Amino acid sequence: MKCLLLFLCFFCLITVITAIFESEGGKRNQYSSSSSDEDSNYERRKKKKHHHHGRPPGNGNGGEGNGNGGGGKACPSDWMTFDRPQGRWCVKLFVGTMMNLAAETRCREMNATLTGLQTDAERLKLAEAGRTIMLQNNYGDASIWLGAHRKGSCPSAQMCYPKETFFWLDNHTTGNEGFGWATGQPDAGTRGAWGVQSCAHQFIFSSGTTNPRWPGIIHGQLDDQYCQEGVVDPNIKMYACGRKPF
Ligand SMILES: *[C@@H]1O[C@H](CO)[C@@H](O)[C@H](O)[C@H]1NC(C)=O
Ligand SMILES: *[C@@H]1O[C@H](CO)[C@@H](O)[C@H](O)[C@H]1NC(C)=O
Repeated sequence: MKCLLLFLCFFCLITVITAIFESEGGKRNQYSSSSSDEDSNYERRKKKKHHHHGRPPGNGNGGEGNGNGGGGKACPSDWMTFDRPQGRWCVKLFVGTMMNLAAETRCREMNATLTGLQTDAERLKLAEAGRTIMLQNNYGDASIWLGAHRKGSCPSAQMCYPKETFFWLDNHTTGNEGFGWATGQPDAGTRGAWGVQSCAHQFIFSSGTTNPRWPGIIHGQLDDQYCQEGVVDPNIKMYACGRKPF
Protein backbone atom coordinates (compact mmCIF):
# COMPACT_ATOMS: atom_id res chain seq x y z
CA MET A 1 0.00 0.00 0.00
CA LYS A 2 2.77 2.46 0.99
CA CYS A 3 4.62 1.44 -2.07
CA LEU A 4 1.69 2.19 -4.35
CA LEU A 5 1.23 5.70 -2.81
CA LEU A 6 4.89 6.52 -3.31
CA PHE A 7 4.67 5.40 -6.91
CA LEU A 8 1.60 7.53 -7.53
CA CYS A 9 3.26 10.63 -6.02
CA PHE A 10 6.33 10.12 -8.17
CA PHE A 11 4.12 9.80 -11.25
CA CYS A 12 2.31 13.04 -10.39
CA LEU A 13 5.64 14.89 -10.00
CA ILE A 14 6.85 13.73 -13.42
CA THR A 15 3.59 14.86 -15.02
CA VAL A 16 3.84 18.33 -13.44
CA ILE A 17 7.50 18.83 -14.48
CA THR A 18 6.75 17.74 -18.04
CA ALA A 19 3.86 20.19 -18.21
CA ILE A 20 6.11 23.08 -17.04
CA PHE A 21 8.78 22.26 -19.62
CA GLU A 22 6.23 22.10 -22.39
CA SER A 23 4.74 25.50 -21.58
CA GLU A 24 8.23 27.11 -21.43
CA GLY A 25 9.10 25.64 -24.81
CA GLY A 26 5.85 26.94 -26.23
CA LYS A 27 6.68 30.49 -25.15
CA ARG A 28 10.12 30.29 -26.69
CA ASN A 29 8.68 29.11 -29.98
CA GLN A 30 6.22 31.95 -29.97
CA TYR A 31 9.10 34.45 -29.59
CA SER A 32 11.36 32.93 -32.19
CA SER A 33 8.56 32.91 -34.75
CA SER A 34 8.49 36.73 -34.70
CA SER A 35 11.35 38.69 -36.24
CA SER A 36 13.99 40.16 -33.96
CA ASP A 37 12.73 43.59 -34.97
CA GLU A 38 9.31 42.79 -33.57
CA ASP A 39 10.98 41.51 -30.44
CA SER A 40 12.77 44.79 -29.84
CA ASN A 41 9.58 46.70 -30.60
CA TYR A 42 7.87 44.59 -27.99
CA GLU A 43 10.67 45.36 -25.52
CA ARG A 44 10.33 49.08 -26.29
CA ARG A 45 6.58 49.05 -25.78
CA LYS A 46 7.09 47.26 -22.51
CA LYS A 47 9.63 49.90 -21.40
CA LYS A 48 7.44 52.80 -22.48
CA LYS A 49 4.65 51.57 -20.25
CA HIS A 50 6.93 52.13 -17.30
CA HIS A 51 8.40 55.51 -18.28
CA HIS A 52 6.21 58.49 -18.84
CA HIS A 53 8.12 61.48 -20.09
CA GLY A 54 5.24 63.88 -20.45
CA ARG A 55 6.39 64.63 -24.02
CA PRO A 56 4.94 62.56 -26.85
CA PRO A 57 7.58 60.23 -28.30
CA GLY A 58 8.77 61.03 -31.80
CA ASN A 59 7.96 64.47 -33.21
CA GLY A 60 8.53 63.77 -36.86
CA ASN A 61 12.28 63.97 -36.63
CA GLY A 62 12.79 60.31 -37.39
CA GLY A 63 14.15 59.62 -33.97
CA GLU A 64 12.40 56.32 -33.39
CA GLY A 65 13.82 52.87 -33.87
CA ASN A 66 17.17 53.64 -35.46
CA GLY A 67 19.40 51.81 -33.06
CA ASN A 68 19.63 54.44 -30.35
CA GLY A 69 17.08 52.75 -28.19
CA GLY A 70 14.27 54.86 -29.72
CA GLY A 71 11.54 56.43 -27.71
CA GLY A 72 14.06 58.67 -25.93
CA LYS A 73 13.34 62.24 -25.03
CA ALA A 74 12.84 64.53 -28.04
CA CYS A 75 14.79 67.72 -28.68
CA PRO A 76 12.81 70.97 -28.34
CA SER A 77 11.22 71.88 -31.68
CA ASP A 78 13.56 74.84 -32.24
CA TRP A 79 16.66 72.63 -31.90
CA MET A 80 17.91 70.25 -34.59
CA THR A 81 17.92 66.55 -33.74
CA PHE A 82 21.05 64.52 -34.43
CA ASP A 83 20.34 60.85 -33.74
CA ARG A 84 23.60 59.09 -33.07
CA PRO A 85 24.50 55.50 -32.17
CA GLN A 86 25.46 56.77 -28.70
CA GLY A 87 22.17 58.65 -28.23
CA ARG A 88 20.25 61.71 -29.27
CA TRP A 89 21.95 65.12 -29.46
CA CYS A 90 20.26 68.52 -29.89
CA VAL A 91 21.92 71.37 -31.80
CA LYS A 92 20.95 75.00 -32.27
CA LEU A 93 22.63 77.66 -34.37
CA PHE A 94 23.01 81.28 -33.24
CA VAL A 95 24.36 84.43 -34.90
CA GLY A 96 27.08 86.20 -32.93
CA THR A 97 30.33 87.72 -34.10
CA MET A 98 32.66 86.84 -31.26
CA MET A 99 35.70 84.75 -30.48
CA ASN A 100 35.51 81.06 -29.77
CA LEU A 101 35.60 81.27 -25.98
CA ALA A 102 32.83 83.89 -25.90
CA ALA A 103 30.70 81.60 -28.07
CA GLU A 104 31.38 78.70 -25.72
CA THR A 105 30.30 80.91 -22.82
CA ARG A 106 26.99 81.67 -24.58
CA CYS A 107 26.42 77.94 -25.09
CA ARG A 108 27.20 77.22 -21.42
CA GLU A 109 24.56 79.76 -20.41
CA MET A 110 22.09 77.45 -22.15
CA ASN A 111 23.52 74.37 -20.41
CA ALA A 112 25.03 73.45 -23.77
CA THR A 113 28.49 73.50 -25.31
CA LEU A 114 29.89 74.22 -28.78
CA THR A 115 28.95 71.10 -30.71
CA GLY A 116 30.97 68.54 -32.59
CA LEU A 117 29.85 66.84 -35.82
CA GLN A 118 29.51 63.07 -35.82
CA THR A 119 29.06 62.51 -39.56
CA ASP A 120 29.20 64.22 -42.94
CA ALA A 121 25.40 64.21 -42.89
CA GLU A 122 25.41 66.25 -39.68
CA ARG A 123 28.00 68.60 -41.16
CA LEU A 124 25.87 69.24 -44.22
CA LYS A 125 22.70 69.60 -42.18
CA LEU A 126 24.34 72.29 -40.04
CA ALA A 127 25.63 74.05 -43.17
CA GLU A 128 22.10 74.17 -44.59
CA ALA A 129 20.75 75.57 -41.31
CA GLY A 130 23.47 78.24 -41.56
CA ARG A 131 22.53 79.04 -45.15
CA THR A 132 18.89 79.55 -44.12
CA ILE A 133 19.94 82.13 -41.52
CA MET A 134 22.25 83.83 -44.04
CA LEU A 135 19.46 84.21 -46.58
CA GLN A 136 17.17 85.69 -43.96
CA ASN A 137 19.84 88.28 -43.09
CA ASN A 138 21.45 88.89 -46.49
CA TYR A 139 24.85 87.60 -45.39
CA GLY A 140 27.25 86.62 -48.18
CA ASP A 141 29.80 84.51 -46.34
CA ALA A 142 29.96 83.39 -42.76
CA SER A 143 31.39 80.72 -40.51
CA ILE A 144 30.15 78.66 -37.59
CA TRP A 145 32.25 78.03 -34.47
CA LEU A 146 32.38 74.34 -33.56
CA GLY A 147 33.55 72.58 -30.41
CA ALA A 148 36.88 71.17 -31.52
CA HIS A 149 40.48 71.76 -30.56
CA ARG A 150 43.89 71.03 -32.07
CA LYS A 151 45.65 68.06 -30.49
CA GLY A 152 48.79 68.94 -28.56
CA SER A 153 50.62 66.29 -30.55
CA CYS A 154 49.82 68.09 -33.85
CA PRO A 155 51.13 71.64 -33.27
CA SER A 156 52.04 72.41 -36.87
CA ALA A 157 51.08 71.52 -40.43
CA GLN A 158 51.71 68.06 -41.89
CA MET A 159 52.43 66.40 -38.56
CA CYS A 160 49.17 64.45 -38.47
CA TYR A 161 46.55 63.26 -40.95
CA PRO A 162 43.95 66.03 -41.37
CA LYS A 163 41.13 64.00 -39.82
CA GLU A 164 43.34 63.15 -36.85
CA THR A 165 44.61 66.66 -36.11
CA PHE A 166 41.72 67.91 -33.98
CA PHE A 167 39.44 66.35 -31.38
CA TRP A 168 35.84 67.05 -30.38
CA LEU A 169 35.19 68.79 -27.08
CA ASP A 170 31.48 68.23 -26.41
CA ASN A 171 31.86 64.86 -24.63
CA HIS A 172 29.24 63.36 -26.97
CA THR A 173 30.61 63.39 -30.52
CA THR A 174 32.90 60.43 -31.29
CA GLY A 175 35.22 59.46 -34.15
CA ASN A 176 36.51 61.83 -36.80
CA GLU A 177 34.16 61.43 -39.77
CA GLY A 178 32.70 64.87 -39.07
CA PHE A 179 36.06 66.57 -39.69
CA GLY A 180 35.29 67.48 -43.31
CA TRP A 181 38.18 69.90 -43.79
CA ALA A 182 38.64 72.06 -46.88
CA THR A 183 41.49 70.96 -49.13
CA GLY A 184 44.82 71.76 -47.48
CA GLN A 185 43.24 72.35 -44.06
CA PRO A 186 43.90 72.40 -41.19
CA ASP A 187 46.99 74.35 -42.21
CA ALA A 188 48.11 75.47 -38.74
CA GLY A 189 48.48 79.17 -39.53
CA THR A 190 50.27 81.16 -36.85
CA ARG A 191 49.94 84.80 -35.88
CA GLY A 192 52.15 86.41 -33.20
CA ALA A 193 50.76 86.13 -29.70
CA TRP A 194 47.70 84.24 -30.94
CA GLY A 195 49.90 81.28 -31.70
CA VAL A 196 48.68 78.45 -33.91
CA GLN A 197 45.12 78.07 -35.22
CA SER A 198 43.70 75.74 -32.56
CA CYS A 199 39.95 76.14 -33.02
CA ALA A 200 37.71 74.98 -35.88
CA HIS A 201 34.98 76.72 -37.79
CA GLN A 202 32.74 75.73 -40.69
CA PHE A 203 32.40 77.92 -43.77
CA ILE A 204 28.95 78.60 -45.13
CA PHE A 205 28.02 80.52 -48.27
CA SER A 206 24.58 81.91 -49.02
CA SER A 207 24.45 80.49 -52.54
CA GLY A 208 26.31 77.95 -54.62
CA THR A 209 29.18 75.93 -53.25
CA THR A 210 32.03 78.43 -53.56
CA ASN A 211 32.69 82.08 -52.69
CA PRO A 212 35.19 84.43 -54.40
CA ARG A 213 36.44 85.58 -50.98
CA TRP A 214 37.40 82.03 -50.05
CA PRO A 215 38.98 80.28 -53.03
CA GLY A 216 39.41 76.56 -52.53
CA ILE A 217 36.77 76.28 -49.81
CA ILE A 218 33.46 74.59 -50.48
CA HIS A 219 30.24 75.41 -48.61
CA GLY A 220 30.09 73.38 -45.39
CA GLN A 221 33.79 72.55 -45.18
CA LEU A 222 35.87 73.04 -42.05
CA ASP A 223 38.93 75.21 -41.51
CA ASP A 224 41.25 75.76 -38.55
CA GLN A 225 41.09 79.25 -37.11
CA TYR A 226 42.62 81.33 -34.32
CA CYS A 227 40.41 80.83 -31.27
CA GLN A 228 40.85 84.56 -30.56
CA GLU A 229 39.53 85.66 -33.97
CA GLY A 230 36.23 87.40 -33.30
CA VAL A 231 35.89 90.17 -35.84
CA VAL A 232 36.92 89.30 -39.41
CA ASP A 233 37.70 86.17 -41.45
CA PRO A 234 34.77 86.02 -42.13
CA ASN A 235 33.08 88.98 -40.51
CA ILE A 236 29.77 87.22 -39.92
CA LYS A 237 30.01 84.50 -37.35
CA MET A 238 27.65 81.99 -35.90
CA TYR A 239 28.07 79.35 -33.25
CA ALA A 240 26.41 75.96 -32.90
CA CYS A 241 25.52 74.81 -29.39
CA GLY A 242 24.78 71.19 -28.58
CA ARG A 243 23.30 69.42 -25.58
CA LYS A 244 21.42 66.25 -24.68
CA PRO A 245 17.60 66.33 -25.04
CA PHE A 246 15.96 68.37 -22.30
C1 LIG B 1 20.55 75.17 -16.71
O1 LIG B 1 20.61 74.26 -15.62
C2 LIG B 1 20.32 74.85 -14.37
C3 LIG B 1 20.60 73.83 -13.28
O2 LIG B 1 19.99 72.60 -13.59
C4 LIG B 1 18.89 75.37 -14.37
O3 LIG B 1 18.58 75.97 -13.15
C5 LIG B 1 18.72 76.37 -15.51
O4 LIG B 1 17.37 76.77 -15.60
C6 LIG B 1 19.15 75.78 -16.83
N1 LIG B 1 19.14 76.82 -17.84
C7 LIG B 1 18.68 76.63 -19.06
C8 LIG B 1 18.72 77.80 -19.97
O5 LIG B 1 18.25 75.55 -19.45
C1 LIG C 1 33.83 66.93 -20.71
O1 LIG C 1 34.30 66.06 -19.69
C2 LIG C 1 35.44 66.56 -19.02
C3 LIG C 1 35.91 65.50 -18.06
O2 LIG C 1 34.86 65.05 -17.26
C4 LIG C 1 35.09 67.88 -18.30
O3 LIG C 1 36.22 68.40 -17.67
C5 LIG C 1 34.59 68.88 -19.34
O4 LIG C 1 34.17 70.07 -18.71
C6 LIG C 1 33.45 68.29 -20.14
N1 LIG C 1 33.11 69.22 -21.21
C7 LIG C 1 31.89 69.59 -21.45
C8 LIG C 1 31.73 70.52 -22.58
O5 LIG C 1 30.93 69.19 -20.82
